Amino acid sequence: MAVLIEIVTGERAVTDRLSEGGLTEEVVARLGATSDPRLREIMQALTRHLHAFAREVRLTDEEWLAGIRFLTATGQKCDDVRQEFILLSDTLGLSSLVDLINHSDVESMATEPTILGPFYVPESPWRDNFDSIVEYDDGGEPTIVRGVVRDASGAPIAGAVVDVWHNAATGFYAVQQPDEQPPTNLRGRFRTDDEGRYEFRTVRPVPYPIPNDGPVGQLLRDTGRHEWRAAHIHMKVSADGCTPLTTHVFDRESDYLDSDTVFGVKESLIADFVPDEDGTLICVYDVVLRRDEGSVHP
Ligand code: BEZ
Ligand code: FE
Repeated sequence: MAVLIEIVTGERAVTDRLSEGGLTEEVVARLGATSDPRLREIMQALTRHLHAFAREVRLTDEEWLAGIRFLTATGQKCDDVRQEFILLSDTLGLSSLVDLINHSDVESMATEPTILGPFYVPESPWRDNFDSIVEYDDGGEPTIVRGVVRDASGAPIAGAVVDVWHNAATGFYAVQQPDEQPPTNLRGRFRTDDEGRYEFRTVRPVPYPIPNDGPVGQLLRDTGRHEWRAAHIHMKVSADGCTPLTTHVFDRESDYLDSDTVFGVKESLIADFVPDEDGTLICVYDVVLRRDEGSVHP
């Protein structure tokens, strides 16, 4: 009899642990064996949140399978130049949230950062100040972008690297149209002069849809969202002894500033593109870097 009670109690303990109420903590407990403390923290929190999500929406078998199919298709859409998982993260606001968590420091007075995006290509050609980054004429509006790179005290930073890239008047980045645009069209690296100044000639960027022929585009349509980004120029700015900055400058006249599909717009990053006497648009965009003596120029 004593043996029988023990067996029944033992079975019940297993059942409770693996019931809807007990399963989450059972998985979390098993992850307790993870030796890397950060991996343990991340996996345990991920498990708790994932289980809470399934419980909250009462996830059905079919919905679970649809989710698996969606993630499979997302992975299958990735290749050397297409990263569908980053697009998913971008459109869910996760990329912007991670950027805010790690790089937002309003007290530093530095220029606000925003997401890198998938079209950055390292090692853009070095160009001289005042040069053009246009290597292919697609009828875009002639534009000059100029500004000064400073630190938070207002001191200009000489020798800072300003790495820029943006799309053509057709809406596409050079990397998206390898058979059409030269690979270095509309991108380049500049070095600020002794007074911290940079300047380049280009064409006005235009709003564009993010790649929408994959599962993320389908999800945007299924959820009644558009796929457009507000017009912008990307910038990576770095200098010795300063925290590197990845940001954009947005065109104040662009559509989609209020509804950028990847949540990248910040008020402080919006600038005017004002025509001068001969009709060339002038965008003045100063950049403030945060001093950080540990940072070495890349
Ligand atoms: C971009 O700005 O280049 C970009 C960012 C996120 C998704 C797609 C494009
Ligand atoms: Fe972009």
